[in-house]
Amino acid sequence: MTDKTRPVLLTGASGNLGRALAPALAKAGYMLRLTDISPFPDTVPEGASFTRADLNDGVTMLRLAEGCQAILHYGGISTEHPFEVVLGPNLRGLYHVYEAARREKARVLFASSNHAIGFHERPEGNGELLDADCAFRPDSFYGLSKAYGELMGRLYWDKHGVENLNLRIGSSFPEPVDRRMLSTWLSYADLARLMERFLEAPRIGHAVVWGASKNPATYWGKDHRDRIGWEPEDTADTFSDKVGSKVSGDPVTERYQGGGYTAMDYTRDKPSPKDAFALD
Ligand code: NAI
Repeated sequence: MTDKTRPVLLTGASGNLGRALAPALAKAGYMLRLTDISPFPDTVPEGASFTRADLNDGVTMLRLAEGCQAILHYGGISTEHPFEVVLGPNLRGLYHVYEAARREKARVLFASSNHAIGFHERPEGNGELLDADCAFRPDSFYGLSKAYGELMGRLYWDKHGVENLNLRIGSSFPEPVDRRMLSTWLSYADLARLMERFLEAPRIGHAVVWGASKNPATYWGKDHRDRIGWEPEDTADTFSDKVGSKVSGDPVTERYQGGGYTAMDYTRDKPSPKDAFALD
């Protein structure tokens, strides 16, 4: 698929992951259009441009995507917030991204999240890994917006043939900081390699990939990584001595994959049932 003369639009460029990806992809020879509502805090990499824009502004998003081969969509609200705060950037903004992709015949990488499925229990004890075709079990309004985003990808593939990869990112930070991240951590280097595989893959369709490094304590099983030929190379295991004992002590946080997000504003008397369709 890669045609390095056609630009790649990177939303959320001024955020943590955008700032890690922009120099890596520029170095790999991609012509980048960077955008974010906040100013880009670093030197804009050679061959790239930066435009400040709000994802809520559909006309500007269409203009920014003109001629692009792909949109790497990292922009938006990236932590839990009240519904009204999440609504504009994550739901309306995503629609603008997909409409732009449809017009340009561009493919979309959607930075989804483990919080779209956060109320699945952790596999500790039973060894059963969760496959990417599991039920959505969002643990927050933020996680719900990611489930919506993945379904938007489903719709635009089925109806318009817009190819998309939904990367369910675990925890992408410079290092894991607690025991949960020994399962969920995704190194910046593995993420950057995945972006290149995504841009180079001949065919993607609608795909879902777990965004985690090669962590022995993983929660996650099958996904569509074969379609892009990506395998992680880093592992959180090297940090197990440092963070292996760092747990919250909260029973809800420690029971579910979404960790602390599941316990935020939690008002049930009894924990959510294991079976997604149970009435307990
Ligand atoms: P971040 O919060 O550092 O970056 C998000 C960027 O989106 C920010 O620079 C922000 O200014 C921008 N943004 C927010 N509202 C906007 C709007 N209305 N218009 C234009 N830009 C807007 O988050 P981070 O860590 O870089 O994450 C990037 C993406 O990956 C997010 O979508 C996040 O949900 C997703 N993700 C990240 C994970 C991680 O561990 N870092 C885990 C799971 C998902």
